[in-house]
Amino acid sequence: MKIAVIGLGFVGLSLTSVLAAKDYTVIGIDKDKKKCNEIRNGRVQIYEPDLEKTLNVGLRKSLEISDDFSLIINSDMIFVTVGTPQKTNGEIDLSMVKNAVRSVGKIIRKTKKNPIIFIKSTVIPGTTEKVIVPILETESGKKANKEFGVISNPEFLQESNAIRDTKYPHAIILGGKDTSYMKKAKRFFSKMHSGISIIVTRYQTAEMIKYANNSFLATKISFINQLSNICQKIPNADVDDVASAIGLDPRIGKLFLNAGPGYGGSCLPKDMSALINFGGNVGANTTFLKAVKKTNDDQINNIISLMRKKLGKLSGKKITILGTAFKPNTDDIRDSKSIELIKKLLKNKVKISVYDPKALENTRKIFGNKIIYSKSLTSSLVKSYGVVIMIQWKQFESINNKSLQCMKNKLIIDSRRMLAKKELNGEYYAIGIGKN
Ligand code: UGA
Repeated sequence: MKIAVIGLGFVGLSLTSVLAAKDYTVIGIDKDKKKCNEIRNGRVQIYEPDLEKTLNVGLRKSLEISDDFSLIINSDMIFVTVGTPQKTNGEIDLSMVKNAVRSVGKIIRKTKKNPIIFIKSTVIPGTTEKVIVPILETESGKKANKEFGVISNPEFLQESNAIRDTKYPHAIILGGKDTSYMKKAKRFFSKMHSGISIIVTRYQTAEMIKYANNSFLATKISFINQLSNICQKIPNADVDDVASAIGLDPRIGKLFLNAGPGYGGSCLPKDMSALINFGGNVGANTTFLKAVKKTNDDQINNIISLMRKKLGKLSGKKITILGTAFKPNTDDIRDSKSIELIKKLLKNKVKISVYDPKALENTRKIFGNKIIYSKSLTSSLVKSYGVVIMIQWKQFESINNKSLQCMKNKLIIDSRRMLAKKELNGEYYAIGIGKN
């Protein structure tokens, strides 16, 4: 069985590596020649635990990496994993998906095989049937679901757990027609992930499941963030105790109830906007989803208000931001709440110093010499008027009175309550814990 994966971002490269490590013959395709060279040499330009290791296992087996599309010609399965970035109006940009399936269609025209094309890219409901299938049929001159299969197969992996989630997904969704291709796909996935539920449904439902999943996760986060803001106004109330207690109710569940500065990253914000936009376009009411998004958009302002309340005028003062990635254990800063906070503070002429164990290089690409990049946690605090912990990198737990000594003014805003149990000589505010 020969498998092709098109688009070697987080999703594509994780899938390519896991399949190759499992002894499938795999060809990973990306149009970026430089990226292909790095990957071919076993190097990954993103920080993702276990990805490089798994890739290297794959490279020692039957894995080829190339920017040459024609190499997918004899593939039995073709996974499309290119990105669908956000346009300014909230819609998704389908150009990469369209280009990829155009190229796939041209190859299908020449092949004697009857491949199955899996669409893993996140696309709004209706896209596979209305956009992708027609392109594939036009370019190949063949009939979809007769001479080749097309299946919607959304992805649920989380960055920083990409390999674990690729190996052990919580479910496999297969959207499409009830054909021999669907039966073959079911056999493939039940062998690859034995014991995991496979849901077979229509294209549109599969596409909707992806948005439902991410918007529900966003809902849980906005819900706990709003409760966190209320807790903060109640002396001695602690949002983490509230979250742990309600999380024990199986109807609620304990995950995604970690209050903080709001959800960021390349997926949740984008998918919320796309769903709201799509819902509006089909004439549905999206009041609830808009409230989830608005709660998220407001969360950073709460931190800035607290800063203003405690420090007065912010202009000219140095503030330290700990964590610039969108979450710990990644160097990804796309749609990071810290980046949003820094941008807002810079508008207020605040001097910013940042520290992140992995994301400084990427942060520099955005801010250049407008902010200070510190090599260590302690040095980032020198002469600061305040420090904000934005994400829960393990090493931030080590902050103590000694590390705070070098600050000019000891205002500590801990958006993840990492230091809540410590006796700190300073003004300590944990988002979600009420003060007397
Ligand atoms: C998210 C989903 O979790 C994946 O299931 C999905 O496959 C992926 O999007 C996608 O669509 O590709 P990811 O973007 O990697 O994954 O990040 P998450 O771990 O979901 O975190 C998103 C944001 O929510 C981060 O900013 C994180 O700090 C925040 N978050 C998460 C919280 O503030 N509290 C929580 O309890 C959980």
